[in-house]
Amino acid sequence: ASALAIAGGLAACSLVGGGTIDTAGKVPFDRPLAIPPIAVAKTDATGEKVVGLTAEAGTSSFLPGRRTTTWGFDGAYLGPTIVANRGDRLRVNVKNDLAEATTVHWHGMHLPAAMDGGPHQVVDPGETWSPHWRIDQPAATLWYHPHLHGETERHVMMGMAGMVILRDQQEAALNLPRTYGVDDIPVIVQDKRFDAQGQFTDSTRGFIGAIGDTLLVNGTVGPYLDVTTDVVRLRLLNASPARVYDFGFSDGRTFDMIASDGGLLAKPAPLRGIRLSPGERAEVLVRLTPGEKVSLRSTKPDLGLDGVTSGMNAGNDTLDVLQLRAGATLRPLGAMPTVLAPLERWSLGAASVTRTFDLSGHSINEQKMDMGRIDETVEVGTLEQWVVTNSMHAPHSFHVHDVQFQIANIGGSPPPPELAGWKDTVYLPPQTEFRLLMRFTDYTSRTVPYMYHCHLLTHEDAGMMGQFVVVKHGQKAGTPPADTTTP
Ligand code: C2O
Ligand code: CU
Repeated sequence: ASALAIAGGLAACSLVGGGTIDTAGKVPFDRPLAIPPIAVAKTDATGEKVVGLTAEAGTSSFLPGRRTTTWGFDGAYLGPTIVANRGDRLRVNVKNDLAEATTVHWHGMHLPAAMDGGPHQVVDPGETWSPHWRIDQPAATLWYHPHLHGETERHVMMGMAGMVILRDQQEAALNLPRTYGVDDIPVIVQDKRFDAQGQFTDSTRGFIGAIGDTLLVNGTVGPYLDVTTDVVRLRLLNASPARVYDFGFSDGRTFDMIASDGGLLAKPAPLRGIRLSPGERAEVLVRLTPGEKVSLRSTKPDLGLDGVTSGMNAGNDTLDVLQLRAGATLRPLGAMPTVLAPLERWSLGAASVTRTFDLSGHSINEQKMDMGRIDETVEVGTLEQWVVTNSMHAPHSFHVHDVQFQIANIGGSPPPPELAGWKDTVYLPPQTEFRLLMRFTDYTSRTVPYMYHCHLLTHEDAGMMGQFVVVKHGQKAGTPPADTTTP
């Protein structure tokens, strides 16, 4: 890393708010966990499933006696869960009832670039945008959120996000909990800070972005969940702008991770903690005994900070998240599968193209996002190796649109089990090189780009993002469509 980058990082990450937070055992857990409704899908005459999503402003009650101004979809905060099956043709009518432009990006989805909801697919106030595509990827937990260039952090922090659950026959054949809201639970985790009036504030900022001192799960402060089955499936989504979590349980019990960003692991991974940076997901199975209470807790995530940055405010906290309250009797769900989904691991030697991405400052390969510039041109169907290096002494992450990738190695070592499945977002500790393998299929466009970027939203907004097109063999990139918005 250049001396400049290091100095810049240090200057930007002076401690604000001071000290670390520890809420272990101190959260009252006195509100039932909100479960986002499932979006109502109407099947039209052609068999297409049509869902409506309206972005709107409203107020929410998080703190006693206070109304907080928030944004959401079909409601004041967050949005409904979209459930779809592999093979479905899905159309979403995204209506913007906000007073400003936004976009809705389908994070983790394989779909044409024009449907992706990135910075080029702006929805102006009063307008409706209707992306449509065929779901063709494995069962997984995905999510949606705005991606307006320069405004993503603010829009997400106001409450614009929702979960997507994809199902397929392979997952359906396994004995896994899948009754939504009963034994299959969305867990959308966000950290917030409130001002004296009870409004969201981002006044506590470090180099990684806005760090809050109060957790919301599905928009609930201090949530508990009444559990009625002996195993529960939690779909953990880090929908925070900057904070990294390491999710485990208050008594240190092990759980089984069954899926990463893009779907099922080859087999369950027994873990005591799973680190998730913004945008990452993990599905975990937790066993409960009758009558017990145990809390989902994030314990000081290992961010890989070094001597230069170990004092930075990167949210290195311990936070109670969600209390699970087991009923006096629990319905047994039977033996959970020991094998989940076949996973063919690609080898680096099979990749025919290698690209390098160096993350430093607020740039990738020393360039900041330019909506008029295509940075990379990928030929459809090619197995590619992306060598991604965080050369700074500060945290970053890397997210790629349209694709699920495999992590071939991290600093030369094979990935741990929780990173050995399909991923679309990965935390990049300082001074670390990741080798990713990926193949873009099906959809091509010479002019409409997909994005790759750091998913620390303040970095993304600052321009730590690039654009790529997927083209047919031998084609060259064209010029991206004219911007309809300026950051
Ligand atoms: Cu979750 Cu490019 O975004
Ligand atoms: Cu970053």
